[in-house]
Amino acid sequence: MTLSGKRILLIISGGIAAYKSLDLIRRLRERGAEVRPVMTAGAQQFVTSLAVGALSASHVYTELFSREDEQDVGHIRLARECDLVVVAPATADLMAKMANGHADDLASTILLATDRTVLVAPAMNPKMWTHPATRRNRATLAADGIRFVGPASGEMAESGEAGEGRMAEPLEIVAAIEDLLTGAKPLGAKPLAGRKAIVTSGPTHEPIDPVRYIANRSSGKQGHAIAAALARLGADVTLVSGPVTIPDPAGVRVVRVERAEEMRDAVVAALPADVAVMVAAVADWRVASAAGNKIKKRPGEAPPPLQLAENPDILKTIGHHASRPKLVIGFAAETENVAENGRAKLERKGADYILANDVSPATGIMGGDSNRVKLIGRDGKEEWPEMAKDEVADKLAALIAAKLLP
Ligand code: C5P
Repeated sequence: MTLSGKRILLIISGGIAAYKSLDLIRRLRERGAEVRPVMTAGAQQFVTSLAVGALSASHVYTELFSREDEQDVGHIRLARECDLVVVAPATADLMAKMANGHADDLASTILLATDRTVLVAPAMNPKMWTHPATRRNRATLAADGIRFVGPASGEMAESGEAGEGRMAEPLEIVAAIEDLLTGAKPLGAKPLAGRKAIVTSGPTHEPIDPVRYIANRSSGKQGHAIAAALARLGADVTLVSGPVTIPDPAGVRVVRVERAEEMRDAVVAALPADVAVMVAAVADWRVASAAGNKIKKRPGEAPPPLQLAENPDILKTIGHHASRPKLVIGFAAETENVAENGRAKLERKGADYILANDVSPATGIMGGDSNRVKLIGRDGKEEWPEMAKDEVADKLAALIAAKLLP
């Protein structure tokens, strides 16, 4: 248990993301942490102190001027009798109070009185997050030594607006807490530490001759985001990427390839692994025998015929490999019967999950920044709302971490 004996003072402020704090409490306690919750008046509009108290198995502190609470521990002891103060979710208002040293309720008073490290997980509407006032407050807090986790980008629960402002997922907050409390990434400090992941991304280029090739419109954004999300949770990631124009994600090993056969060889060479996520848009066919020299256009001659040969199916190869990873995940880019085709693909390719998405041109998904997927597993399917590709990546990485939990 990575957080055995650690005491966390969790301040919950008033945002819809407060519901995720219930999961956060559960995850922290699973890891051996003791959680003492403080709720603002706003937080109690979103989740009840009864639920928070039951999950944390602790008294829930809500009032600054409560005679019993003050006699029992008092706000100064509350602020100091812990190893870490975590604010999740942190609203724009609470961040403003912190930045300006206000102390007009129990949460803000504790934050002013504490001498412990404070980790903040902001959650707010994207316009509020990018407002110059919030940016100033955030800079002030960072300069004061306050640590941040998130926010992520994605669709807002209440307004459907997309942008940066969603609270980091509970497992990401747990990983940040483990980092702060147990030092620099010891084994097990992050949910995927010590785990190996292979991710494919981007298109493949299948040469016709030395200067021409067959390609597709994949940008690599989704695959790269998944590689980055897995690395953030501590995984040792090998990203096998076809030709893309986006930058390499931080903290991953990148193997660059062009052709499907090269991609297959690189993926097989990266085995064994705990999880493989095959996101690349691998060309189904290659030119049977690519010309060694540039094919010349000769006046009066008919255009050369292109004889195609089938490419190896990398996902299927991995799904049926003798050293098959524990989790094998594929994508299914479909333009019709998305769920049905996804399920058939799951069976055929020996995958555990298929993320099926509708890539018909009207959706703008291919090459775009957002994605709408159906997660199809052996035990059923789940529809995810449209969200940023980064957010899909975080959600998938959290799922992978949960599935690989010892
Ligand atoms: O069969 P289809 O191309 O729709 O399957 C998509 C899934 O299979 C994706 O996860 C893709 O990365 C993977 N795939 C592969 N090798 C191929 C074709 C697809 O790994 N040759």
